[in-house]
Formats: sequence, structure tokens, C-alpha cells
Amino acid sequence: MAAREQAVQRLEGALAEPGFSWTLCMVGEDQSQKFSQLTGELRAPFSRTGDGKRISSGFSYWGVESTVAWVHACSDLFYPVMRESIESFTRRWQQIGGALEGQRFHYVSLGTGTGHKDHAVLERLRRDHPGLCYLPVDVSPEMLRLGQREALRHLDIPVGNVVPVQLDFSAAQNVMGLRRLVERLVGDEPVVYSLLGNTLANFEDDTALLALLMGQLLRPQDRFMLEVASTERLDEDSAAAAAREYRASPRFGEFVTSAVMQYTDLQIDMASVSFDPAVEDDRALLVKVVYRNRTGRQLRLTLPDRSRVEFPDEDTIRLLITRKYSWAGLEKMLADAEAVEAARTRSGFNAAFGEPRFGMDLVLLQSGAIAGHRPVPPPNPFH
Ligand SMILES: C[S@@+](CC[C@H](N)C(=O)[O-])C[C@H]1O[C@@H](n2cnc3c(N)ncnc32)[C@H](O)[C@@H]1O
Repeated sequence: MAAREQAVQRLEGALAEPGFSWTLCMVGEDQSQKFSQLTGELRAPFSRTGDGKRISSGFSYWGVESTVAWVHACSDLFYPVMRESIESFTRRWQQIGGALEGQRFHYVSLGTGTGHKDHAVLERLRRDHPGLCYLPVDVSPEMLRLGQREALRHLDIPVGNVVPVQLDFSAAQNVMGLRRLVERLVGDEPVVYSLLGNTLANFEDDTALLALLMGQLLRPQDRFMLEVASTERLDEDSAAAAAREYRASPRFGEFVTSAVMQYTDLQIDMASVSFDPAVEDDRALLVKVVYRNRTGRQLRLTLPDRSRVEFPDEDTIRLLITRKYSWAGLEKMLADAEAVEAARTRSGFNAAFGEPRFGMDLVLLQSGAIAGHRPVPPPNPFH
């Protein structure tokens, strides 16, 4: 046996030792560049409306504090969006999983979160494919470690088949690298990718991200599982109700302010966090979570690189955006991303009397691109 294979086997052996709970993680990009992206976004000019300084999606979850705050928010009784999405996932996944029956898929999870959903997906996929590979992909190494542990609980998947990747999947270059890695690992064998928990809704240009992922990752034999929050109505009352849903959770408030707390010296005042509702064209309800300087005076923020930036009265830092899609809005986004629906389940969650009904759509997609996939241009990150 080649020395390299022996080394890999020894490493697998060490990781599998009882009581040794270390995990391997591939790091797909230079973290210092992300640091300068973060500080750059916090230097943006004045905006009263949350359209200047911002924490963009990946950075909301990046560090250990944000990861812990996210895990707490997911179990908060007052934050039904994620809690119900996690609790009802196994049932909904069973409803659409039949469309994959009889085929042997590997699994790539884009944004693992707490790992509960990945556990349900893996449990089913490995029935048809006990030798499957599992690649959890997340911007946060802490989330990867925590999510992976939950995902693999009581499942007999060899450590060598689990390849966690720390990566920001919203960058085209990174997606191309991921595609290369997956092909090196599984060749032509089919893969299920997933983007769950309404993660897509956190991105400013959600359609472009979906098109990037579908276009660059999906081959004709692969499938993509997408979960998004949905709304029956697109009107101001419904947008206000969506904002209330997030505002009601103190734990979500802690999560959403955790990045700004970690990466600036701002003294967080929760009364300065606002959840601004809007109807986004004819496609979605939009909630912009914004930190507004309400002190009546100019503040100065210290950024992670020790530079200082003015934070004038009434200026804002956008902490997060999220959406609930109308059914027509979702259809259009899928069509624009050249995604073809293979199966779908739509569920409505309980609503208080007189409140708008919101729900979750879980959709299994395949690539609608005629050529199957687009060529992946150089450079090759593995050379
Ligand atoms: C809303 S949570 C959903 C978690 C899980 N999929 C679920 O449904 O329970 C979003 C997840 O995606 C990860 N994430 C967000 N933006 C990301 C990005 N740009 N690149 C990689 N991971 C990202 C977060 O760290 C987090 O684990």
C-alpha cells in the first residue's frame, strides 16, 4: 500500500478512536481576506435605511459567539421560523425523499447549522448508499464541528467519508472549487446538494446566488434541495407580521447583534435594533434588521483592524435581511435560476387568530440547463 494511503488510514484510525473527539476540516479560502471584506462593509457611507454599513450573510454566523447565539435562537419558543422548520423537517423530507428512491446519492449540505436536518437526510440516503460521502459546507468552523456531530449521531458513516469544508459559498470562485473537490471525491456518482432553513433569503441577490449554485454545481444526475419560508399574501400587514415574528424572540435578537458585538466596540442597546418590514416587488415580504444610532450624537466604531469609523446619529448598520416568498415569487426565482422542480412539499405553520399564514416550501430541484453543466474556468485551487 502506498505510504500516502497508509497515512490517510492512520489518520482515520486516530479520529475514530473512542473518546477522541477531534474533527478534520478543509479550509477553502484565506480567512484574512474575509476579515478585510468585513471591515470594508462596515466602512460604507451613511444610510438611514440600512443600505450602507452592513454585516453580510456569512459574517452573521462566522465566529464562535454567533454560532452559539444561533444554536440558542433555533430552540427559542418565541422564534418559530427555525424551531418549527427543524422540528417538522423529517416529516417534510420524507414526503419528497421518495423522488430519490433507488438511487445512490452522496450528500453536500450548504450551511449545516445545528445539523439536525442533515441527520434526517443522511439517515435516509445511506439506506440506499451505505458508502456515501457527506460534505458539510459552512462559513463557520464552529458550526461545522457542532453540526457535524449532530448530523452523524448514531449513524455508522466512516470518518473518512465525512469531509467538512469551511467556505463562503456565495463567492463564485469558491463554488467552482467545491465542484472540483466533489468531482475528485465521487466522480460521476450523483450528489444531493441542500440549502435549507431559508438561508437563501439572507442574501441580497438571492436569485443570482441560486443561479450560481445551480449553474456551477449541478450536473444532470444531481439534485438540489431548497427550503424557503413562504407567505400566502404580499401586503403591508403581512410584512409587519413577518417582522413581529423575528422581533418577538430575544434569542434571535442576541444572534442578530452578535457579529457587530464581536467585530466592533459598539455598546449594544437592543432598543436600537429595528425590524423594518417591506414588500419586495411582487415576490416576497422583506424584513431588514437594522441597528440605528439613536444616541443623538456621533459615535466612533473601532473595527477589527483597529481602524476607526464615524457612526453618525441616525446612521445604520444592517445586521441581516430575510424574506418570505410568495408562491409566484418562488416560481419566478426558480425559473430565473434554470431550476426544474422534481418534487415539492408546502406546509403552513400555525398562525394566531387573524394573523397572516406563513409556511415553508421544501423543493427538490434538478438543473434545467440544457447542456447539463457549464464549463468550469481556471484557475484550479488544488494546483
Ligand atoms: C439559516 S442557517 C440554516 C441552517 C440549517 N441549514 C438549517 O436549516 O437548520 C444558515 C447556515 O448557513 C451558513 N451560512 C450562511 N451564509 C453562508 C455563506 N455565505 N457561506 C457558507 N455558509 C453560510 C451559516 O453558518 C448557517 O450554518
